[in-house]
Amino acid sequence: MNNFPENFTWGSATSSYQIEGAADEAGKGPSIWDAFCTVPGRVAKGDRGDIACDHYHRMREDVALMKAMGLKAYRFSIAWPRIMPSGKDQVNAEGLKFYDDLINELLDQGIEPWVTLYHWDLPLALQMEEDGWLNGEIANYFESYARVCFARFGDRVKHWITLNEPWVVAILGYGMGTFAPGRNSKSEPYVVGHNLLRAHAQAVRCYREEFQAHQKGLIGITLNCDWREPLTDKKEDVAAAQRALEFFLAWFADPIYLGQYPISMVDRLGDRLPQFTEEEKDLLMGSSDFFGLNHYTTLFAADARGNLEVGSVYGNGGLSEDQDVNLSADPNWKKTAMGWAVVPWGCQKLLAWISDRYDAPDIYITENGCAYADVPTEGKVQDDERIAYYEGYLNACHEAIEKGAQLKGYFAWSLLDNFEWASGYDKRFGLHYVDFDTLERIPKASADWYKKAIEANGIKDK
Ligand code: GAL
Repeated sequence: MNNFPENFTWGSATSSYQIEGAADEAGKGPSIWDAFCTVPGRVAKGDRGDIACDHYHRMREDVALMKAMGLKAYRFSIAWPRIMPSGKDQVNAEGLKFYDDLINELLDQGIEPWVTLYHWDLPLALQMEEDGWLNGEIANYFESYARVCFARFGDRVKHWITLNEPWVVAILGYGMGTFAPGRNSKSEPYVVGHNLLRAHAQAVRCYREEFQAHQKGLIGITLNCDWREPLTDKKEDVAAAQRALEFFLAWFADPIYLGQYPISMVDRLGDRLPQFTEEEKDLLMGSSDFFGLNHYTTLFAADARGNLEVGSVYGNGGLSEDQDVNLSADPNWKKTAMGWAVVPWGCQKLLAWISDRYDAPDIYITENGCAYADVPTEGKVQDDERIAYYEGYLNACHEAIEKGAQLKGYFAWSLLDNFEWASGYDKRFGLHYVDFDTLERIPKASADWYKKAIEANGIKDK
């Protein structure tokens, strides 16, 4: 048995747009994802999040599923346009009430709420009228929205996450255009990344100065990163893998933990990479009480020397030409329905890399999981591949802890099958199967497996 440390936080995660539905009910304003889904060709099969899992109306039923699994914690996000329909000024009482009820229900069932303030559903008005994350003013709007949430929910919420995956917002939203708001640019991602960091820092300052002393919670950020393994032990490939990790994770983590952008980015991007003022640097430095990490997969990295092979494997980890790195997968690696390779040892190496570079911060894996084409038979879903994935990755986490990583918790993505962004409803990540016609939930075999892991505070050795 591989046991986890005492008080390990066993959780599961979701996000507002992916599960709530009720897209224009109860005073909610439209988000950039509501708009993006209506653009032909952007989302597989023209799927959209109007109804999603209808969690807005089935919240208590969903908390009961969490309770049945014995979850210690549940990570969800607040929809900014449900709280502030146009992104600023006016606050929507019905939106506040929904999250009040959810938080109270969780606490009644003994489940700790972990709240993400921004999981990509920007109020549409801020995009249309203010240029979204391109506008430096957005840091002030985000701070005001965050303040409303701290003031209202902070008596009960003790773990806050400012932003989910700023890399995705910047690269997929403004670089590749595959996610809302769907822009294609070689320079905007770095401006957007910069403003996301500034917004994070201001929200954290607000929490620390106005709330933390009496509410006694913690606040952090969630960053995503795959592992990049050097393709060979040649020094050029070792350097390429390092560079790829810097453009992926250190882009956001270095300013927070080390006070500046990675030198590799400064050198390669020139004036496309904005600079922080001294005041912003000070605000950013140390602005996360814990390191939230979303991790899914691994690829090999090799120095491209100007011969980029873009698009041969899933993801290029950013704007490829800026990094000059070629990515590849071992053909023997198993792949999930997303085409992402299942490589548990990459998770262990990434945890070690973070611990080493940032001086062993407390880490929470705020997402890890996999999509498979689950099909119910006689009311049951026997998702053995998902169980194998979780077993592999949790064993890798265990090994990382033994080697010194301060990993304090793990959130399985996801509680429910849900709206998987540009892939729509076809890609199922849930521990619970959702029938998107009837909205019925069925616990998969993996939910039962996870429940046993939580009960035992450990998993069986490989
Ligand atoms: C993350 C994201 C989640 C979920 C997951 C699986 O990047 O935060 O919302 O979609 O990936 O693709």
